[in-house]
Amino acid sequence: MSRKHVAILISGRGSNMSALIDAAKDKNYPAEIVVVVSNRPDAGGLDRARDAGIATEVVDHTRYGKDRAAFERALQAVLEKHRVDIVCLAGFMRLLTGDFVNLWQGRMLNIHPALLPAFKGLDTHKRAITAGAKLHGATVHFVVPEMDTGPIIAQGAVAVRSDDTEEALAKRVLDVEHRIYPLALKLVAEGRVRVTDGRCLIDGSPVPQPEP
Ligand code: GRF
Repeated sequence: MSRKHVAILISGRGSNMSALIDAAKDKNYPAEIVVVVSNRPDAGGLDRARDAGIATEVVDHTRYGKDRAAFERALQAVLEKHRVDIVCLAGFMRLLTGDFVNLWQGRMLNIHPALLPAFKGLDTHKRAITAGAKLHGATVHFVVPEMDTGPIIAQGAVAVRSDDTEEALAKRVLDVEHRIYPLALKLVAEGRVRVTDGRCLIDGSPVPQPEP
């Protein structure tokens, strides 16, 4: 089995990155993490990646000023250097242009800490509590030019408790994130996900089938 080459793009602590790295330690996992790229030189996840023996690269967006295209050219050069097949955004806090996103259409995933299409953007846990949502969770989706949109590959839900705090809810959602991201990447790397009319079909069906 040839394993897909995956780049993980981060900006911060990298707990989802670690979950993907851990999953890919299994030689039977269909993807191999070949590089972790950060747009911030001080991202905590870089040390975690190095400790795990993964190549790291920094493409510091501040060096490109407002020139997003130049930043993305540098990013693309890094991805090509590492012969990347699939890109996983994991707490990557830069908006990407439509041109760049289109280069990776169907090959770039993102994790968002809410049950999309609810609560796009930031502060999702606080907003879920304020809205009185009873269910909250996380979503892995293909990236399209519009932020926090795109075909949904996997979701996981948690109940919102009446006395929840933003921190407590965030922690429970993060546990879900660490489970669904490796699952979603596995499905995509195995070529089992097809997008039809903006929706993901897994093995030709709208919901994932349990493993036989
Ligand atoms: C996660 O909550 C993820 O859903 C969001 O940013 C956060 C990143 O956390 N996109 P980490 O860096 O993976 O720990």
